[in-house]
Amino acid sequence: MSLGQAAPAPSLPKAFLAGMLTAALVLTGGSQAQEQVSGASDAALQGVRVLYRRPDGVPFPETNPPMPAKLALGRRLFADPKLSVNGKVACTSCHDPALGFTDGVPIGRGVAKKPLIRHVPHLWNLSWGAAYFWDGRARTLEEQVRGPIEDPFEMGENLPRLASRLGRDRSYRKAFAEAFPEHPQIGPDQIAAALATHVRSLVSPKTRFDAWAEGNETALNAEEKAGFALFNGKAGCSNCHSGWAFTDRAFHDIGLPGSDLGRGKVIGLPAADHAFQTPSLRELAWTAPYMHDGSLATLDAVLDHYDHGVVRRPSLSPDLKRVTLTEPERAALLAFLATLSSENPPVPASLVAAGPAAPLTAHEGTVISQKDKLFQPSAVRVRAGESLTIVNDDVRTHNVRLDTGPQKFNSGAQEPGQSVTVPFARPGRYELYCGIHPAMRLDVSVER
Ligand code: HEC
Ligand code: HEC
Repeated sequence: MSLGQAAPAPSLPKAFLAGMLTAALVLTGGSQAQEQVSGASDAALQGVRVLYRRPDGVPFPETNPPMPAKLALGRRLFADPKLSVNGKVACTSCHDPALGFTDGVPIGRGVAKKPLIRHVPHLWNLSWGAAYFWDGRARTLEEQVRGPIEDPFEMGENLPRLASRLGRDRSYRKAFAEAFPEHPQIGPDQIAAALATHVRSLVSPKTRFDAWAEGNETALNAEEKAGFALFNGKAGCSNCHSGWAFTDRAFHDIGLPGSDLGRGKVIGLPAADHAFQTPSLRELAWTAPYMHDGSLATLDAVLDHYDHGVVRRPSLSPDLKRVTLTEPERAALLAFLATLSSENPPVPASLVAAGPAAPLTAHEGTVISQKDKLFQPSAVRVRAGESLTIVNDDVRTHNVRLDTGPQKFNSGAQEPGQSVTVPFARPGRYELYCGIHPAMRLDVSVER
């Protein structure tokens, strides 16, 4: 099973939603944004805010369920400098729980004492992730967590050597035996499974915004609601920062200067050059500075960037609107963003694991739409020898890929209006995804 198969967000008819968004936009269009929003907008925003309700449980892969002993071991490993080659750098050295799992500096240093290549990201809400690292080069957390241990700049250790060192420690032998009763050895796979389980448990806690999203009208004041309306309307932030974690889990070039090609280098597509993964906007009050290069020190500087700092180049995301906000609108947007942060240092929400995802109903038919960053339908059944036609009826470039299983496929840059045909010769289960918007998944079962 893959990640990201949590219960789908409550679905509303598209037309209804579009109407709501327009309403929000109109309401915030004038200079008295705040007053207008405080009146009629509560009703207008009602439809939008259901899209931001928190899910009931945290998704975990069936292959690595969150048993308490494993979680405890993962937390211990995460804080242990013994994981590094010189015994001095722990995961928490860079992902400090008191700083929302970041390090508070633009560019940090690890065992090599040299500047790292990118800024340390916060680690909130990764259980819902579709790909990891700023450029998405790891497809699972189990794969990701090996990276920092073996990275010569970060922890500089090698996993088999680390496993044998931990094996010489009696209390670790006991902890691994409890965490993995079926395979009680200490190896790279167990270390990765425990660390990934700990990272999945880092769910951002409820804030004032959640109280409002759940229906408490007075949890936000008029200015904060006006900011939320702007976020979804005129400012266009929700084109990418969507859903309860405020991310579409996709890769976008938002026009930051620099030569780092990000996602484009990983998937070999110029259309994704300078594109980095949309971060969750939860708990930002604790995680400055911002962006993959740590270049923006404050949220005010982030708004300056979106207002007049964007470098125009061919790879710029089609989801990025050109926006100019008035001073009161800027203040409202910042006031809204503040409601997504805890008032005291955030403590991860208590863990409620979601049960296994309900199987998707497979549709018959061989034509798939890609509108609004979604494969529709998202599960299909075809016969061996048949092909699927995937139509880009969206406004964005897509990149249809199949990396796992006996058959590989890569559409390259699939521009709006273009269709690609994927033949399926052999029976089996296949999972197609988009290299630029990897939360887009298409389950294909091929029958004889
Ligand atoms: C020396 C600093 C440093 C240490 C130590 C470190 N990390 Fe990181 N971590 C980073 C940086 C920098 C990135 C982003 C790198 C990139 O995207 O290219 C990152 C990225 C991540 C991500 C991906 C986040 C996302 O949004 O996709 C996870 C998960 C993570 N680290 C977990 C860990 C774990 C677990 C450990 C300990 C085994 C660890 N890190 C140790 C600096 C560090
Ligand atoms: C086109 C998609 C898109 C739009 C629209 C967009 N963002 Fe972003 N946002 C991103 C991406 C991608 C990043 C990370 C970019 C990077 O590091 O290179 C980001 C980063 C951020 C960050 C830094 C978070 C961190 O942890 O470093 C903040 C804050 C932010 N955006 C707020 C906003 C606001 C407010 C708006 C509306 C004015 C907005 N964004 C519009 C995609 C978008």
